Amino acid sequence: MPIVETLAEIAKPWARFYSKSDVAQTLVMFTHLAGMLGGGGVAIAADRAMWKARTATDEVRARLLADVEAAHRPVLTGIAMAGVSGVLMTAADVETYVPSLLWWGKMAAFALLLINGAWLQSMERRAQRAPATLSSAWPRLSLASKFSYALWFAVVLGGVLLMNA
Ligand code: HEM
Repeated sequence: MPIVETLAEIAKPWARFYSKSDVAQTLVMFTHLAGMLGGGGVAIAADRAMWKARTATDEVRARLLADVEAAHRPVLTGIAMAGVSGVLMTAADVETYVPSLLWWGKMAAFALLLINGAWLQSMERRAQRAPATLSSAWPRLSLASKFSYALWFAVVLGGVLLMNA
């Protein structure tokens, strides 16, 4: 597959350095797992609080939305750490990962996680601007939070399966 060979050629200097450097491998994998733990941990806690609030008062929901808004920065930082380190690990062995259906499956789950996250954030912002719509908006917010929760675990499963690729 010419594209794989081209990418492998471009990534060769990094792949050669990475394969010989335990420090680089440790730092990159640590960044990957730290991004998952830090960003994913905050994200799934917020997701759980969102769907737990389906029976809460609008006052409690409004306070929760303010808390969840403050959670976006650590979540996006974690996703960026996992993303950049993921690209570096993929570049270190293009011939294994890019042709792998498992890798593409994980990338699809990662893309869905980002799309669902953008949808969730846009609904949260809309609900914050119009508190009177909180009750009608909450079922969709709760559903998107459950998708987010499941997608984080799907990406992690994809990652662990990749380890054995
Ligand atoms: C939220 C995003 C992500 C999470 C939570 C995540 C999670 C994981 C986990 C748990 C592992 C297994 C680590 C282990 O068993 O030691 C892993 C491995 C891996 N991930 Fe990710 N990942 C994410 C995003 C990405 C992205 C965007 C890419 C590629 C662009 C990627 C590429 C990889 C690769 C190549 C491995 C295997 C590394 C190896 O075999 O040494 N990951 N990931």
